[in-house]
Amino acid sequence: MNKSIVILISGRGSNMEALLEAKLPCRVAAVISNKADAEGLNTAKAHRIPTAVVSHRDYPDRADFDTALAQVIDGFQPDFVILAGFMRILTADFVNRYKGRLINIHPSLLPSYGGLHTHERALHDGVKIHGCTVHFVTPDLDHGPIIIQAAVPVHCHDTPQTLAKRVLHEEHRIYPQAIRWLCRDQIELNENGRVVFRHRKQVGHALISPSLE
Ligand code: GRF
Repeated sequence: MNKSIVILISGRGSNMEALLEAKLPCRVAAVISNKADAEGLNTAKAHRIPTAVVSHRDYPDRADFDTALAQVIDGFQPDFVILAGFMRILTADFVNRYKGRLINIHPSLLPSYGGLHTHERALHDGVKIHGCTVHFVTPDLDHGPIIIQAAVPVHCHDTPQTLAKRVLHEEHRIYPQAIRWLCRDQIELNENGRVVFRHRKQVGHALISPSLE
């Protein structure tokens, strides 16, 4: 039976769109935003995906918001919860409720540059390689087990915008691949908390080649 996913967004939703257009081996049960004006909600509706808004502004604290969000998510009974530009820090209770089922994409080569403004910080440090990471979410922000990464060169005349564009192109490539692996049960966490391919048993999270199939 096909697995199902719920995608959480806060804004533009270009990663969500990449997932919707990737012909994944799963059903997208819903797209949920914490912002009613998130552009991505319109894209989801255009793809005839059910949408919901749970505004963090309607709740006094993180715990109450996360409880309300979890209730809406659980109504769709997804196998996986996919964060795609969801700009809220989640409580440990929320993260633990979806242990092994909550996935995020981050615009840096983790563990470097967790947090915000990753492209600005990479340029400031003068790194020559930057990129993006898909990982399982754990209570430790931007530190969960890595599923896949893609690297891009940093050019001398890059601005945060040009670098972000190059990285985003890779995000749209690796996120569908990670979700495909998950929905096909092709990856698992080993005893050391590393992501491995189920049938090959090697730690395999880095793919830089243009062919991801
Ligand atoms: C992406 O760069 C993603 O890695 C980060 O937030 C951005 C969201 O962009 N978490 P979009 O909404 O998917 O276009």
